[in-house]
Amino acid sequence: MPDQVKIVEVGPRDGLQNEKAAVTTEQKVRLIALLGKAGLTAIEAGSFVSPKWVPQMADSGEVFDRMEKRAGVDYPVLTPNMKGLEAALAHGAKEVAIFGAASESFSQRNINCSIAESLERFVPVCARALDEGVRVRGYISCVLGCPYEGAVDPAAVAAIAKRLMDMGCYEISLGDTIGTGTPAETERLIDAVAADVPVEKLAGHFHDTYGQGVANIWAAYGRGVRVFDASIAGLGGCPYAKGATGNVATEDVVYSLSHSGVSTGIDMERLLDAAAFASEMVDRPPVSRAGRALLAKRAA
Ligand code: HMG
Ligand code: MG
Repeated sequence: MPDQVKIVEVGPRDGLQNEKAAVTTEQKVRLIALLGKAGLTAIEAGSFVSPKWVPQMADSGEVFDRMEKRAGVDYPVLTPNMKGLEAALAHGAKEVAIFGAASESFSQRNINCSIAESLERFVPVCARALDEGVRVRGYISCVLGCPYEGAVDPAAVAAIAKRLMDMGCYEISLGDTIGTGTPAETERLIDAVAADVPVEKLAGHFHDTYGQGVANIWAAYGRGVRVFDASIAGLGGCPYAKGATGNVATEDVVYSLSHSGVSTGIDMERLLDAAAFASEMVDRPPVSRAGRALLAKRAA
C-alpha cells in the first residue's frame, strides 16, 4: 500500500483573503464544489474575522450556508476569538482553526495582541468549541521567519505548539508565512517541535514566496509529517506579510507526491478544473508550474 498524505486545501480562505480581484460569493461556492469533486477531504472554507481587517472574508457566513457540504469532507473556518467562534457555530461549522504566531510583531499586526494574550484568548475559544463537539486546528505563523523580526527560534515554535495541543487542538499547522524557509531549516524545525508534540499531530503550511514549498514538504515528509496545506492555483498571500505570495500550489504538491508513489486521493484532472476556474476568477494564470503545464497539455 502506498504511503498516504492528506492535503488541506486552503485556497478559498488563505488564497482568497489576499486576492485583489473582486470574487463573488457564488464563485467561492463554485470553487469549493470543484475542490470537493477533485477529492479533497479538507477544504478551508472561510474566516470569521473582522471585516474591517480582512474584507475579502466578509461573506464567509453566506459562503458556508450556500456551499455544498460533502460527506467525509471537513470544512474548517478561522476563528480568532469568541465572536468568531460564535459566528462559526451559528453557521453550523464542525471544525474551526485558531491562529497564533511565533513572533511578537506578527502577532500584534495580525491579531492585534501579544502572543501571551492570544494564547489566553484561545483557551476559552478552544474549550467552547470542544464542548460543542467542534474540532479545533491550531496554526502558528512565522515558524521559519518573520517579516518584521527575521529569524525565529524553533524552540519558541515548539513551546507554542505544545500550548495549543494542551488546549485541545487536534493538529498544529506550522506556517512559513513568508515562504523564506529551506529544507534544512524545515528539518530543524520539525525536529524541535516533534520533541514536544507527536509528529503525527503536525501539518506543514508553506507559502511559496521563495519557491521552496515543494522541497520543504519533502523535507517535512522525511521527518514523518503527513498533512500539508496547499492552495489551488497558488492563490493568495497574507495581508499582514507584505510581499509574501500564496501557499504552495495544490497542483504542484499533488503532482510531486503522486508521481513519487505517495497517494493523496486527489484526481488531477478534476483538480485542474478547479485550478482553471480559480485562475479565471482572479484573472491570471495559475502560479503552479505543474498546473500551467498540465492545463497547456490539456488545451493542445
Ligand atoms: P481588534 O480590533 O483587536 O478586536 O481585532 P476588538 O475585539 O477590539 O474588536 C474591534 C472590532 O472588530 C469590533 O467592531 C468587533 O465587533 C469586531 P466595531 O465595534 O469596531 O464595529 N470584531 C469582529 N468582527 C467579526 N468577526 C470577529 C470579530 N472580532 C472582533 N471575529 C481581531 C482583533 C482578531 C478580530 C482582528 O485583528 C482580526 O480580525 N484579525 C484577523 C487577521 C486575519 O484574518 N489574518 C489572516 C489570517 S491568519 C493567516 O493568514 C496565517 C495562516 O495562513 C498561517 C500562515 O500562513 O502563517 C493561518
Ligand atoms: Mg497562510
